[in-house]
Amino acid sequence: MLYDYLTTNEEGRLVIGGVDVKDLAEEYGTPLYVLSEDRIRENCRKYTAAMAKYFPEGSFPLYAGKALCFKGIYPVIDDEGMGADVVSPGEIFTALAAGFPAEKLFFHGTNKTDSEIEYALDCGIGCFVIDNMNELAALDKAAGEKGMKQKALLRLTVGIDPHTFKAVQTGMIDSQFGIPIQTGQAEGFLKAALDAENIEVAGFHSHIGSQIMDSYQFCDQADILLEFAADMKEKYGYTAEYFNIGGGFGVRYTEKDPTVDIEGNISDIAEHLAAGCEKAGLPVPKVLMEPGRSIVADAGVTIYEAGGIKTVEGYREYVTIDGGMTDNPRFALYGSEYTVLNASRADAPADFECTVAGRCCESGDRIAEDIMIARPERGDLIAVLGTGAYNYAMSMNYNRVPRPAMVMLSGGKARLVVRRQTFEDLISCEL
Ligand code: LLP
Repeated sequence: MLYDYLTTNEEGRLVIGGVDVKDLAEEYGTPLYVLSEDRIRENCRKYTAAMAKYFPEGSFPLYAGKALCFKGIYPVIDDEGMGADVVSPGEIFTALAAGFPAEKLFFHGTNKTDSEIEYALDCGIGCFVIDNMNELAALDKAAGEKGMKQKALLRLTVGIDPHTFKAVQTGMIDSQFGIPIQTGQAEGFLKAALDAENIEVAGFHSHIGSQIMDSYQFCDQADILLEFAADMKEKYGYTAEYFNIGGGFGVRYTEKDPTVDIEGNISDIAEHLAAGCEKAGLPVPKVLMEPGRSIVADAGVTIYEAGGIKTVEGYREYVTIDGGMTDNPRFALYGSEYTVLNASRADAPADFECTVAGRCCESGDRIAEDIMIARPERGDLIAVLGTGAYNYAMSMNYNRVPRPAMVMLSGGKARLVVRRQTFEDLISCEL
């Protein structure tokens, strides 16, 4: 199986973290998001341990909640000693409602409105990641009015193509995220930030992209940040305490994806950074990372029930499921590949070629095309693996499909962490 917490039982069914899918489906219904808490914790530990081992003291990972944000994740993240990256007041609210400490939150976003800035300041947010000059001025003013000095990082773009698909490249020069170094604008950004009385500039942030499998893109990023940092030290005497190098490590969605060696990559980056700092005559900064996908993606499995199974003669076989783009829009948006299996017949040969389609009135509503699974019958459970990241977070109510429930598995036991939306929920904001 793609992930080691997946097995099959004597009845030939898929077992997730020690729990039979049939029991999960019977107790909680389908579609159902299933999340292995044990796997999330393992993933967190890869970062906390490697960052503590290879980076200077005070370096730590922040969980990028955009990958999967719901109250139940934050106690786990907190317990694992991580901070969190929040990208909206909605994420701040969720984290705080779960008891996550505000001082461990880093507030991102390309357009923080005045009221959002005020909200975050009132919450006592640990650190802002300032995206642009207007935001810098607005934050300086708002913090000044409250008699506060706000800690912040400056979001810079380093102009790297991380060789990943275009929709998730956020570090390129022509980008709406942050201020570019190559155009010379980052210098003015830093200068203005240093002049801002109510802002304490803690360092630089840059995020180069997502689903990255190697360390070399991060080493390139470190080189560009270091060159800029050395220049700024010389010109303004400013030394960055932190480099936040963003998120982006990839995960295995299918057998053909490599396994990303988190510890090995972190060790490479640390070595490269330390050598670069020595050359530039700079102290090695504390490092922050913002993993999202690599914390939660491979901890998630979605369980659906197969409905219509039809042959379009001369073309293909379709298996329709009781969810689809409404709970996982990633195939519709990016053509993302997943491992799909017939969870009711997990040990039967995968000899049936089919396209798995969702339930929406939308021809793009598919989860996978032309894949091999064991031939299903109506009522069989279909499992899609690797759905922990950017699924629930990007889910929607198109066609008035209620969002699924989510259960978290720990030590072979399931607990409900998000209840299924009801029809009443669907109309709850409508007057
Ligand atoms: N930090 C920043 C500033 C980011 O923009 C992102 C992701 C992350 C951290 C986390 O990156 P990760 O470790 O998850 O790769 N919806 C797309 C992914 C968009 C990622 C956007 N930014 C998808 O479903 O693949």
